[in-house]
Amino acid sequence: FQPKLLAGRRVLVTAGPTYEPIDPVRGITNRSSGKMGFALARAAQHAGADVQLIAGPVALPTPWGVERQDVETAQQMHDAVMQSAADSDVFISVAAVADWRVAHASEHKIKKTATQAVPALSFVENPDILATVAKLPNAPYCVGFAAESGDLETNGEQKRIKKNVPLIIGNLGPATFGRDENEVVLFDATGATRLPRADKNALASVLIAEIARRLPDATLI
Ligand code: C5P
Repeated sequence: FQPKLLAGRRVLVTAGPTYEPIDPVRGITNRSSGKMGFALARAAQHAGADVQLIAGPVALPTPWGVERQDVETAQQMHDAVMQSAADSDVFISVAAVADWRVAHASEHKIKKTATQAVPALSFVENPDILATVAKLPNAPYCVGFAAESGDLETNGEQKRIKKNVPLIIGNLGPATFGRDENEVVLFDATGATRLPRADKNALASVLIAEIARRLPDATLI
């Protein structure tokens, strides 16, 4: 018998990268396969939750029983999240959201000509979706991810405090991109806990259990 740790809970997950257009054929993006976010959506569904997954451009099938909405840009992801965040019990922000978008994306393809100088891009900051949700008056339990290339211990805890979320899941970014395995450290108010390296699907179930037992009104099992 497997206890349904998230029965009756509404869980909102973002996954994958965002894509910010430069012109109709070019753009900038963040690196993310979406595997960890999709694995978490699947594990939350297995745990009995009503799961909504908002995904940037990824090549992954929708986990069974999960309601999926595809978006491209950070702004679209923000708008989709804000539609459901206040009605969710848990928000797991796994997406690698592009921090900046191109200020004046061109409506037409920018032509490469022999005489013209290479184009210069200027950027505007995108909304921080996780921090925005965490500030809502009735905020869901917010879980953030931190992909760092070094000093995870310091950066993970700093990110938790800066974004004002109860739980940050840290991983060493470049070593995990696109891979099927991951190694993470949990940062919460009690400190840091390292979990053993595992397949992303197995890890997702462990993480869902870790999230479930931290919910303010968790039933003790
Ligand atoms: O600040 P940083 O991008 O490293 O924080 C990562 C966490 O914040 C992730 O959970 C990511 O999904 C979320 N995030 C967001 N909106 C942004 C940038 C990051 O929700 N614009």
